[in-house]
Amino acid sequence: MKTLPAFLFLLSVASAADFKKDIQPILAKHCYECHSEKAGKKKAGYVFDDLETLKLDINPKGAIVPGNPAESHLFVVVADANHEAHMPPKDNLSSAEIEKMREWITEGAALTADAPKMKPTVGAPKKDLPPIMSWVNFEGKKIKAGFVRLEGDTVILRMPATAQEVAYPMDKLDAASQQQARESAEP
Ligand code: HEC
Repeated sequence: MKTLPAFLFLLSVASAADFKKDIQPILAKHCYECHSEKAGKKKAGYVFDDLETLKLDINPKGAIVPGNPAESHLFVVVADANHEAHMPPKDNLSSAEIEKMREWITEGAALTADAPKMKPTVGAPKKDLPPIMSWVNFEGKKIKAGFVRLEGDTVILRMPATAQEVAYPMDKLDAASQQQARESAEP
């Protein structure tokens, strides 16, 4: 199997979601029909083809909250298929389209490419602190620790109180915890 050149990988990471390239086509395809200045359709007062109007909806109290998709009413009605005001009314965006919108809002919902990108504040993984999980050793004793990595038959756990890494032989854990270690080690 051929691997992609490294620069392509960097490119795809660096250029996350761009309004013109990624978001506008989604709105055009799924929303303009009913929310468009040009077509004279302004259902619920929303138009998405006029950027000056759309801009008014992008603010901490608006339908699009920069940096926070979960608080963005527009994103919620699109992403939640069971929402009473689900949009578009009789259709669903693909999960790739929803992810693009989530990305765009998380990065600050800029309408122009030169606007400064926000640092994502929600959903950013805390790199050096693995999530705390429950483990059970073969004597039935519970351990609360973060998973660090698996080294052969030894699982490396991080103790929350001391932040110290502890090597734990797999056969000293019960079957479910061994399974949890193997699953955590998968990329
Ligand atoms: C077939 C027509 C149609 C399409 C397509 C459509 N909408 Fe709507 N939209 C409506 C109507 C009608 C309302 C107002 C009635 C309501 O609130 O349910 C509305 C209301 C809304 C609201 C306000 C919801 C609320 O809670 O009152 C938002 C936000 C919205 N649309 C966004 C979108 C987005 C984003 C898309 C594209 C992904 C879209 N709409 C596609 C017809 C449409």
